Amino acid sequence: MKISLVILEKSLMPSILNYISIFALLLQLCGSALAQSQDNKLITNVEARNHLSLNGTWRIIVDPYEDGYFDYRYQPKQDGYFTNQKPTSKSDRIEYDFDASETLRVPGDWNSQKEKLFFYEGTIWYKKDFRYKKKPGTRLFAYFGAANYEAKAYLNGKKIGEHEGGFTPFNFEVTDLVLDENLLIVKVSNQRRLDAVPTVITDWWNYGGLTRDVMLIETPGTFIRDYNIQLNNKSKKKIIGWVQLDGARLSQKVTIRIPEAKVEKTITTDANGYAKIEIDAELALWSPSNPKLYRVEIKSEADAIIDNIGFRTIETKGVEILLNGKPIFLRGICIHEQAPMRDGRAYSTEDARTLLTWAKELNANFVRLAHYPHNEHMVRLADQMGLLVWAEIPVYWTISWDNPATLANAKQQLTEMITRDKNRAAVILWSMSNETPLSEPRLSFLIELTKTARELDTTRLLTAALERHYIDGKTQMIDDPFGQYLDVIGVNEYIGWYDGLPQKCDTVSWKTVYDKPLIMSEFGADALQGHHGDELTRWTEDYQASFYEHQIKMLKRIPFLRGTTPWILADFRSPRRPLPVIQDYWNRKGLVSDRGVKKRAFLIMRDFYESLKE
Ligand code: GCU
Repeated sequence: MKISLVILEKSLMPSILNYISIFALLLQLCGSALAQSQDNKLITNVEARNHLSLNGTWRIIVDPYEDGYFDYRYQPKQDGYFTNQKPTSKSDRIEYDFDASETLRVPGDWNSQKEKLFFYEGTIWYKKDFRYKKKPGTRLFAYFGAANYEAKAYLNGKKIGEHEGGFTPFNFEVTDLVLDENLLIVKVSNQRRLDAVPTVITDWWNYGGLTRDVMLIETPGTFIRDYNIQLNNKSKKKIIGWVQLDGARLSQKVTIRIPEAKVEKTITTDANGYAKIEIDAELALWSPSNPKLYRVEIKSEADAIIDNIGFRTIETKGVEILLNGKPIFLRGICIHEQAPMRDGRAYSTEDARTLLTWAKELNANFVRLAHYPHNEHMVRLADQMGLLVWAEIPVYWTISWDNPATLANAKQQLTEMITRDKNRAAVILWSMSNETPLSEPRLSFLIELTKTARELDTTRLLTAALERHYIDGKTQMIDDPFGQYLDVIGVNEYIGWYDGLPQKCDTVSWKTVYDKPLIMSEFGADALQGHHGDELTRWTEDYQASFYEHQIKMLKRIPFLRGTTPWILADFRSPRRPLPVIQDYWNRKGLVSDRGVKKRAFLIMRDFYESLKE
């Protein structure tokens, strides 16, 4: 919403006319303020909106001492790199120049684009010029699919916002700052911090940068910012949800149409632009064997948006997971956002298609997107390909459980993940955490996350990769106290890799205190593809194959097991895996190599999943 400045003549005694002008101006200011105050709330389904891609070549400045932001006293500068200063005379001293600097491709991590940046952890400044023709009555937002890890964004020298968290989208309104010629400058830092989410230690590469799509989103003055349209888990014939408008004209009629299902319903949003939805409908239910998506049209006075949404129910009953009311076994695989067959972060639809096609070739019906929200292409493609999804935030290992800012950060990332993906039928599980050592602060932190998730989404199941322990030399007990707050229990185990040799699986049994489904959410062994020996020689395909053979026999003996996601689909980069010749900073637990070659273990898991098919 634009504020048009009304200049009141000082000489005129304030007449009724002026009072009206003042009142109109105040209304407009309030209206605009309201519009502005709602900015930075996440806009969803961005690909379906009027958008201008800013992907491509960006100028960059590598800034390890953050000289572009802090002065020598470590105080923020007023004239940092974000002001893009240029010398105005031959005597001027400006010690940076974006236009003479190197470039990077966006989207894309910096580590895999330049040899010298392979291990780089710090700040890199990005600059993009763009032209834009303003249209009356429209609003403009700068949208980022993700920036790892922390971003500060400036348009034409003015700060438009900042964001922390390397795997979730964010947007900043720029309606009142955009000109015909524009400079978008973003400071991105992947500096690890103890109080961050994740914390300083992870077993994946800290790929930094503008790692996902960047675009400008153009909307009407009042637009459909967000909506939730899903099936009520209790009734397969009732769609529930809500619509949220953003702008000055918040109370409006909004129509939801699903033409193929002969659904049309008009609702009226309240003074906050919000309206609940409840629609009776006869729908073909989404499932891995029939990933049916419906065209859903949402229309307000000035805006219209189309989404493709699947409708299904997901619930648990004792140890059963029920999809559309029927028990299902989740034949899964873990996936990192490691680009297939090249170095770097995956970010494109093509990357997603390669990874999910490998999952399908494994006879999988389920993927665990570890250990953070993957790019939206991955989740939308899972919707289309019929792969159920475990989505996760990077509350990983030893988080700063006592730090309120860390909890707020984790809640923000959880909120952004659920906001972005809540209309994806494929997503059935929100995971709160991975392998977090037991403590009281850890438990209360994680319980808080479940409260946030259940407030945001009543239709999905909550899970996490929990701790387990031996109660004697050969019985694994699952009694992690966090399990009582979850719907589905996840557990990672490496019996035969970190814990004994593969044969040890033959003597281990499992117990649980929960009458809830178990997903064995990780188990795996390293193998360098093409390296052969025998089943006791570490790092060989023979050892890895033997590991899976013994694991499968053990898993079959767990009566409350309702899903498996072996670690992991493909080899992935990790700074903790330096073993020369074998690892060379790759975690080699992939069933597929970093060159896309399937290992023996892939075939063993594929055949096991084939045998589980109904
Ligand atoms: C852990 C962890 C993974 C890690 C894996 C491994 O379970 O969850 O992130 O990569 O083990 O050691 O390979």
